[in-house]
Amino acid sequence: MATIVLGICGSIAAYKAADVASRLTKAGHEVYCVCTPTALRFVTPLTLMTLSRHPVVTSFEEETNDWTPTHIALAQRADVLAVAPASAHTIACFAHGLAPNVLTSLYLVNRAPTLIFPAMNTQMWNHPATQQNVQTLLQRGNIIIGPEEDGELACGVCGKGRLVDVETIVSNIRQAL
Ligand SMILES: Cc1cc2nc3c(=O)[nH]c(=O)nc-3n(C[C@H](O)[C@H](O)[C@H](O)COP(=O)(O)O)c2cc1C
Repeated sequence: MATIVLGICGSIAAYKAADVASRLTKAGHEVYCVCTPTALRFVTPLTLMTLSRHPVVTSFEEETNDWTPTHIALAQRADVLAVAPASAHTIACFAHGLAPNVLTSLYLVNRAPTLIFPAMNTQMWNHPATQQNVQTLLQRGNIIIGPEEDGELACGVCGKGRLVDVETIVSNIRQAL
């Protein structure tokens, strides 16, 4: 069975990551959740830890258990890095090599296949800055799945931007393994 690092960003869709973690764990995979600081406003480490059966990595300050920093050790163990939901901010950090938090740092260390599942407001997604960042990630070999072409977003807008459904996330991760 595989080691999956599940990155979670500050999006209203973050609650769906709990279901992703649960399904992959029940399928026998080792799932390590890594949350951005903003993601913690949407989901709790307690939920993710219970469902993934592993401590959740949320900040550099917690990286005191081992001489190897957790974000480096995890990246080296990962068979796949999946980021769901991926926010516009984190996508921008990835594209530009910025590493202000554990997830963005781990991205730079990671050499395993990287799956990115964006979720954001339609205008944010369509903005040339986001589109350019997405192109950069695609050229780098990252796999980008979604967002959904249409649907009602949490912000009340109808259009492209919704996170793809949990089943699609799980099946794409399985395929990448
Ligand atoms: C209620 C709420 C919902 C949000 N949903 C999203 C979202 O779906 N996608 C997104 O890119 N940003 C969203 N944001 C903005 C992000 O939280 C913000 O850009 C943040 O800096 C992202 O940080 P992170 O990428 O480090 O997680 C939302 C903000 C709020 C208050």
